[in-house]
Amino acid sequence: MSGVWHILILAAGEGTRMHSKHPKVLQPILFRPMIHYVMDLAKALQGASQTVVVGYGRDRLLEELKDYRELKHVVQNEQLGTAHAVRMAESLLSGQSGHLLVLSGDVILLKEKTLRDLMERHLDERAQCTFLTTEVPNPSGYGRVIRADTRHSIVGICEERDCSPDERKIKEINTGIYCFEISHLFSCLGKIQNKNHQQEYYLTDALEILISQELKVVAKKIDDFEQTLGINDRAALVGAEQILQQRINGLLLAQGVTLHDPMSTVVDPRCRIQPDVEIEGGCVLVNTVIGKGSTIERMSRVVNSTLDEGVTIRQGSYIEGSHIGRGCVIGPYARLRPETKLARNVKIGNFVEIKKSQVGEDSKASHLSYIGDAEIGSGVNLGCGFITCNYDGRIKHRTIIEDGVFVGSDSQMVAPVTLGAGSYVASGSTITKDVPPGSLAFGRSRQINKAGYGKRYQKDPKEG
Ligand code: UD1
Ligand code: CA
Repeated sequence: MSGVWHILILAAGEGTRMHSKHPKVLQPILFRPMIHYVMDLAKALQGASQTVVVGYGRDRLLEELKDYRELKHVVQNEQLGTAHAVRMAESLLSGQSGHLLVLSGDVILLKEKTLRDLMERHLDERAQCTFLTTEVPNPSGYGRVIRADTRHSIVGICEERDCSPDERKIKEINTGIYCFEISHLFSCLGKIQNKNHQQEYYLTDALEILISQELKVVAKKIDDFEQTLGINDRAALVGAEQILQQRINGLLLAQGVTLHDPMSTVVDPRCRIQPDVEIEGGCVLVNTVIGKGSTIERMSRVVNSTLDEGVTIRQGSYIEGSHIGRGCVIGPYARLRPETKLARNVKIGNFVEIKKSQVGEDSKASHLSYIGDAEIGSGVNLGCGFITCNYDGRIKHRTIIEDGVFVGSDSQMVAPVTLGAGSYVASGSTITKDVPPGSLAFGRSRQINKAGYGKRYQKDPKEG
């Protein structure tokens, strides 16, 4: 694609149809603000410059965009329309030669190839403006493409509210994506008036002005209208989310990942999943890496985590910010909270919660436990009902359990405390002092057996 290209992304609008206190372009789609999808497209196209127009909720928006380091921004204080938004970039762009690709912060499903084809066509045609159109079954809400009866040449774009009843029937719509030659653009924008139903300065009016100056305007029509969905309300938002999900899941299936119920499986686009992974229905995977041959059973949620090869996550587990080693088995109904690190072949069973802890190879906590702020060595067995008492009301303390320790069921570790290698803890212990390596700790009162008590009690409970 020759020619110098600048990219401008319109994102200053409030998005009133969302009925939200957040700017529309920050509404999440598959766990990412929708504007990130547009930014990724812009980044992939490698324009000479990328600029976003911000306005409503600009501080939050800029905060969410801080990782896009190449990105510049201009501010549109009052949202007076899409033409007005483009004008905000005049001082940055008007002296530049080349072309401007205008993207919209709420049109997120476009494919890179579609944009490259549009830009190529713009250069081939030597047009002043080339814009993307498509035919949709239900055009309501979109600007209609008005063509002359003869030769089908472009007359302009009419916003729905300004359309005559006949114009409303037109199914070809403006997708809000345009290429402009920069040299004529800003003088043309200066001529746009706001004499329309919404009293806004419409970028779409630029086309009519260019045409009236006998400058070339080209409509590039594509068949795949799904790509051009404009996300103005929540219904469109979930529609876009579903389309994106289908795309991602289709790709995963093609790459050797079995999704047993793809319609109910949500995988965000940042996930990396290797072949021979099996994922049952109802799972949600966010920003997660999953190694070969792993299985994720029904209704599990895995967020910001890495699973090495051959991991099994049993039904209904919730995993966040964790690293799970090769061959581990987790769940059912386990909860791993951030900064959990499990080495190979660890077994974490039902109703076990782990937070900010490391667990060494071949260790087990099979039932009903809380492990917080702990370092657990390898070959350790934590019995049912194991609890780290890590918080004294002010500070969190650490529990250290060295290799080969066996902790009997229903025991509490009052941190800070260390169990030396190869030590044993008797069931029902409350451990408040360090246990030397190789010893057995009893942290409970001795049992007393009262002979004959049971029989006497049965006869006369008052006497017991
Ligand atoms: C726009 C087009 C319409 C097209 C549709 C495609 C205009 C006048 N209409 O309508 O022809 O069919 O997109 O999706 O352009 N924005 C600003 N500043 C403003 C107004 C809007 O930055 O003052 C931004 C918004 O944040 C949004 C984008 O521009 O990202 C489009 O604005 P929106 O209000 O959604 O326009 P539509 O009514 O959808
Ligand atoms: Ca829109």
